[in-house]
Amino acid sequence: MQRKWWKEAVVYQIYPKSFMDSNGDGIGDLPGIISKLNYLKELGISVIWFSPLYQSPNKDNGYDISDYQAIQESFGTMEDFDRMLDEAHKRGIKIVMDLVVNHTSDQHQWFIESKKSKDNPYRDYYIWKDPKDGKEPTNWGGCFGGSAWQYDGETEQYYLHQFAIGQPDLNWENAVVRKEVFDMMNWWCEKGIDGFRMDVISLISKPDVYEDGPINTEDGYSAVGAITANGPRVHEYLKMMNEEVLSKYDLLTVGETSGVTTEEAKQYAGFNTGELNMVFQFEHMDVDSDEHGKWTMKQLYLPALKEIMSKWQTELADQAWNSLYWDNHDQPRIVSRWGNDSEQYRVISAKMLATCLHMMQGTPYIYQGEELGMTNYPFTEIEQADDIEIINNYHTYVEEKGIYTHEQMMEIISRKGRDNARTPMQWNDSENAGFSTGIPWLGVNPNYTVINAESQIHDKDSVFSYYKELIRLRKEHDIIVYGKYELLYPQDEKLYVFTRTLEEKKLLVVCNFSKDTVELPEDLKKQTGMNKGILIQNYSDESEVLRPYEAIVYWV
Ligand code: GLC
Ligand code: CA
Repeated sequence: MQRKWWKEAVVYQIYPKSFMDSNGDGIGDLPGIISKLNYLKELGISVIWFSPLYQSPNKDNGYDISDYQAIQESFGTMEDFDRMLDEAHKRGIKIVMDLVVNHTSDQHQWFIESKKSKDNPYRDYYIWKDPKDGKEPTNWGGCFGGSAWQYDGETEQYYLHQFAIGQPDLNWENAVVRKEVFDMMNWWCEKGIDGFRMDVISLISKPDVYEDGPINTEDGYSAVGAITANGPRVHEYLKMMNEEVLSKYDLLTVGETSGVTTEEAKQYAGFNTGELNMVFQFEHMDVDSDEHGKWTMKQLYLPALKEIMSKWQTELADQAWNSLYWDNHDQPRIVSRWGNDSEQYRVISAKMLATCLHMMQGTPYIYQGEELGMTNYPFTEIEQADDIEIINNYHTYVEEKGIYTHEQMMEIISRKGRDNARTPMQWNDSENAGFSTGIPWLGVNPNYTVINAESQIHDKDSVFSYYKELIRLRKEHDIIVYGKYELLYPQDEKLYVFTRTLEEKKLLVVCNFSKDTVELPEDLKKQTGMNKGILIQNYSDESEVLRPYEAIVYWV
């Protein structure tokens, strides 16, 4: 297998708004980030991925960009960015930018022009269609609810927006748009950044024909994401991007690809396909979805999770590269989701989940606060939320459709909503968790007095120290990066057991996903009994049985 730095890297995702506020306005910023680079160096990560830092009216927290070459004022200036880049590089940390080019903000100069008239030179930068029978051109519904079309009375046409109304989709069919995007990317690369995380990149190529799809959303539309995912020209566009930009630099590139299959992923992230390094697949994020999509209280069924993870591990092996993640800014906190965030089990289950993921093949992504075992937020009122997705869905489920009561929906939001990940980073036990001296833009989780970085950095038994050790081990042992993966006991509902093999070396990873004490299967007992040592474990001593949320990695 060919060695690559991005295969050996561990990426840390920063959500800038919530990481560290330096000037007391309640919003995280670049000087704040710079002040915490030593913390990240201590953790040992090799790359930071920044959720968007660009100028934005913040309809979707920076994922609606109004200028790709300017820094959002509340985050600082381009000089602050350059200083951050420089300071990160000095510490051996690379910088990956979020690239949001499926859509822009409706405040972007291109769209302001585009909207002016049908013959404006920028008209074709976006997707405009005539009404059909006086209504929307198709029955497509946006990812945040409502129609994916917005009418413009002035020019009597609709524009497509797969996300918020303020996020019009760019028209990738237009070669001028592609050139604008590639020029902008080259500009960032010339600045010295080290890669791109590509927002909803699987949605950029729209179908050849615009027609109605099956009605499958709660509010009576056809989900647009299912219609546009992996569209007819997406690979062609990415090959162009690779030729015009990516191939000229030594970058980490990861595509966010909802609805992607392993077959598709081998195309996006194949070693020889000339597109991207890796993709974020979503299948495992849907194992606890149900008839109301993610807004469901479904428990994790472990065999289902194992099947998905293992399929990705084995089907991509030797052909393409995996990304590994439990958390990001769109997902609830993993320790609350599939671990156990009670006082008794939070630390141990956070470590177990980390072991399971970091022992797989692929590039691991850590989302800010995950390394502290940060938990979901106890939302009780909709006013506590900021996220457009939460607010729109609350409206649909409670007020419009009456599917859930207020209490039920708030409970589901506390389990699944995106704002669980977006509450401020918990640095210490002082006011506002040390995140800000002002009023934070989103509530701080009240458990910051117990869960915070300061109390963990020097505690060798902390979740932080455990992540640090996992990162260190990955740097030390090629088998963790390159070893072949094999699943054992696929049907076991409590244990996740797999091996990694590289040449004559072999690791056996045993994780108890339950809060029960579990007997090891007999044949596994033999292997663990004859182990040649332990690589890492989350309890400090050995035992005959697996204790609640126990994780052990043996050399066998
Ligand atoms: C991606 C981002 C998400 C954003 C959406 C629209 O899924 O991760 O935060 O809302 O794209 O840009
Ligand atoms: Ca600030």
